[in-house]
Amino acid sequence: MDFDKNVRPADMERITTESLAKAFIDKEIENVRKQVGDGKVLLALSGGVDSSVVAALLIKAIGRNLVCVHVNHGLLRKGEPEQVVQVFRHEMDANLIYVDAVDRFLDKLAGVADPEEKRKVIGAEFIRVFEEEARKLDGIGFLAQGTIYPDILESNGVKAHHNVGGLPDDLQFELVEPLRFLYKDEVRVVGKALGLPDGMVYRQPFPGPGLGVRCLGAITRDRLECVRESDAILREEFARNGLEGKVWQYFTIVPDFRSTGIRDGRRCFEYPVIIRAVNTKDAMTATVEDIPFSLLSHITERILSEVKGVNRVCYDMTPKPVGTIEWE
Ligand code: XMP
Repeated sequence: MDFDKNVRPADMERITTESLAKAFIDKEIENVRKQVGDGKVLLALSGGVDSSVVAALLIKAIGRNLVCVHVNHGLLRKGEPEQVVQVFRHEMDANLIYVDAVDRFLDKLAGVADPEEKRKVIGAEFIRVFEEEARKLDGIGFLAQGTIYPDILESNGVKAHHNVGGLPDDLQFELVEPLRFLYKDEVRVVGKALGLPDGMVYRQPFPGPGLGVRCLGAITRDRLECVRESDAILREEFARNGLEGKVWQYFTIVPDFRSTGIRDGRRCFEYPVIIRAVNTKDAMTATVEDIPFSLLSHITERILSEVKGVNRVCYDMTPKPVGTIEWE
């Protein structure tokens, strides 16, 4: 890779305001139009901040010559695939291909318990699905990526969790990476200026393998639903109680064991849900959020009554180190 192309220009102003974001957007629209002309550009649109901002920017620059592919691998949070379709297809008139690959991914993941192996299966299957979709399309000349500056600094410009670096040789398109010199906070300012909803721009970090890392051991459909439904309740209650945007990251985990409980006067043998809520600056260390006991009790009550197959709720009190933020 050309060294200079990977260094943020020294005179580039930090994008902190809407007007700076608008100036950046105008310049990038011009750059993209110059680079791709009438060509078609392909983008793997996960619905995360970076790919969503790239999509919104490129829709402004080249309209329906941007082809977005959203792969639903079954490991997204509740409501996320629907939001991608709503925002991009219905509100922004994007050329969006929605791929329901849930069964494919879950079949491939059946019985795979090792965390690294799970990540590999998810990554490899993502490339396969994306490649199949790319092969169905005619005339694609470019591949857009939501690479941001920390990706370049940390991993030689390969956005590992987007998993599109592994496409075969005959699908190696020229890259379009309009956010490559932006830091995360700048990407959010640009996203906001492009009119993306706050829920998309200010969302908490979410791992590439999604809920797959929070459904411990071999993923099963019943436990995956426990993770998804309990996570949705946690997010709803945090939003309702003013903690959204204040706590850095919060989510639920479901281990692959059950324990006894009593439901309706009978013994039940069901899964626990673990709640994790942490604050951090750089994700290298983290402290546990001091959640009001009454709120924890209320969330517990809701999870126990609304999420099928769960009979116990725990709160993880472990800072990082020693614990990592995710479980896996
Ligand atoms: P850990 O668990 O290592 O996580 O303390 C630190 C931060 O990284 C996020 N994380 C990921 N992000 N792809 C991502 O984009 C991944 O595979 C991944 N794994 C962990 C984690 O959510 C936390 O914010």
